[in-house]
Amino acid sequence: MDEKLKIAIDGPAGAGKSTVAKLVAEQLSFLYIDTGAMYRALTWAAIAAQIDLNDGERLRQLLDETTIRLSNEDNKLNVYLNEADVTQQIRQNDVTAHVSLVASHELVRKEMVERQRQLAQQGRAVLDGRDIGTYVLPDAQIKVFLTASVEERARRRFEEQQAKGMESSLEQLKEEIARRDNLDSTRAFAPLKKADDAVEIDSTNLSIEEVAAKIIELVKERTR
Ligand code: CDP
Ligand code: CDP
Repeated sequence: MDEKLKIAIDGPAGAGKSTVAKLVAEQLSFLYIDTGAMYRALTWAAIAAQIDLNDGERLRQLLDETTIRLSNEDNKLNVYLNEADVTQQIRQNDVTAHVSLVASHELVRKEMVERQRQLAQQGRAVLDGRDIGTYVLPDAQIKVFLTASVEERARRRFEEQQAKGMESSLEQLKEEIARRDNLDSTRAFAPLKKADDAVEIDSTNLSIEEVAAKIIELVKERTR
């Protein structure tokens, strides 16, 4: 198998990208790179520093002063911001509500993409995000566009939040997901869209294992 093989998994919120990407990476012994976690870490830092999230230049300045480290530890991806563990914090609702705005700035994206390409250079890797197949790694050998109905995606988030004992409403989650999908797909620079050469997988009625198996099958087909 190609030492530099890359798998790009893009799609809207709650489609199962990170869960599936992690499983595929584990099964194939690839590096897993959660690019959304990087945008979330910057958003968390910007909120903590009370920076205007509409100010792309200021956000870029903050990013230039900040290290973001993704670390695969015991089958879990930990996220460190200036070496402080922010794995939990970056999943908070206020981060989720503002991350698409932060990620819409071209100045921010250019630097993030640079960092993501550098991380991916280390070897075989699975990256998940919104613009991996279209922009970050247009030459990735395997590209997947993972979708599911908005109802199913909201239901998954709802179950996740219930399990964590968080207060939430299914209707609110559906609105939040639809709002974020809209922002991510309509931004001017590197929006969320299916790459022409990506294979679309609708996971509405598929389990995590079934989606992972389909992706591994694609890898086998392409590397035969
Ligand atoms: O896991 P979830 O679908 O909630 O989102 P995520 O993958 O953690 O990404 C959070 C946000 O970061 C997305 O809604 C996008 O606004 C942004 N993002 C992006 O613009 N480009 C990427 N490659 C990854 C994430
Ligand atoms: O990364 P993304 O936002 O695309 O989705 P995720 O965070 O990987 O998945 C959202 C939730 O849906 C997780 O709790 C997964 O366990 C669940 N899921 C599922 O129930 N069935 C799938 N086929 C994929 C994910």
